[in-house]
Amino acid sequence: MSVAVITGGGGDIGGAVATRLAQDGWTVIVTDVDPAAARLVAERLPRAHARRLDVADPDDIGAFVSSAASDFGRVDAVVCAAGIEPPQNLADIDVASWDRTQDVNLRGPALLAQAVLPLWTEQRSGSLVNIGSRTWLGGGHPGYAASKAGLVGLTRSLAMELAPIGVRVNAVAPSFVRTGFSRQRGDERMLDDYAERVRAMTPMRELVLPVDVANAVAFLASDQAARITGEVLHVCAGSQLPMFLH
Ligand SMILES: NC(=O)c1ccc[n+]([C@@H]2O[C@H](COP(=O)([O-])OP(=O)(O)OC[C@H]3O[C@@H](n4cnc5c(N)ncnc54)[C@H](O)[C@@H]3O)[C@@H](O)[C@H]2O)c1
Repeated sequence: MSVAVITGGGGDIGGAVATRLAQDGWTVIVTDVDPAAARLVAERLPRAHARRLDVADPDDIGAFVSSAASDFGRVDAVVCAAGIEPPQNLADIDVASWDRTQDVNLRGPALLAQAVLPLWTEQRSGSLVNIGSRTWLGGGHPGYAASKAGLVGLTRSLAMELAPIGVRVNAVAPSFVRTGFSRQRGDERMLDDYAERVRAMTPMRELVLPVDVANAVAFLASDQAARITGEVLHVCAGSQLPMFLH
């Protein structure tokens, strides 16, 4: 039995990841700060379990990992998909939302990896896949882009630190995906307009879908990526490329 934990698993990308990993035969623990959202995803999948987990709360992380260790005995993959993006430019940033963004998007994956480390050390295997964002490269809302750039630094640092115990650490960096997340930007009409502008500027003239992100995560989490660590896999339909050349 291979066990995967997904944070933000009640969301669109986390839900797509849970679905793909369940299809691949994983036992999936779908976690979310919103327990009803996690349940909705888990109840339609085989070998899936729903748990409430707030990744911004260190005590919650510790309690969750203890209970997962006693219920399942092992954790083979952790996929950090929980994320928030307050739509704030520099002038709008306030300390509380800046801190909250870093706590969810950056500190959460670090503390979750730390809590799972004793299991990974015992297993001498494991895989951590962080959902980053193309904004780490191209910029975006400053607090959000900073958290996702930090996540790349965390990914590469943990890849170095955990390689000797057989744990691989990678990131998947999507561009805009139309999800519950993007609704933080505005109403449906604004989103239609935004999505069309993104599509038109993207080299492949395509929008990225949750399933595209899930496919990349499934590869990196699996043994097919056995000797891949410290990478950032962009799922961007080409929008990570330096478009000013064209
Ligand atoms: N949608 C996009 O355009 C896009 C682009 C690039 C990267 N991402 C990243 O993909 C990930 C998933 O986003 P999505 O588009 O599926 O959004 P979503 O809003 O559909 O899902 C995010 C999930 O995270 C959960 N969450 C929020 N705070 C949490 C916390 N403190 N603890 C645990 N769970 C929490 C939410 O309840 C939600 O279910 C995020 O990390 C996001 O930064 C999204």
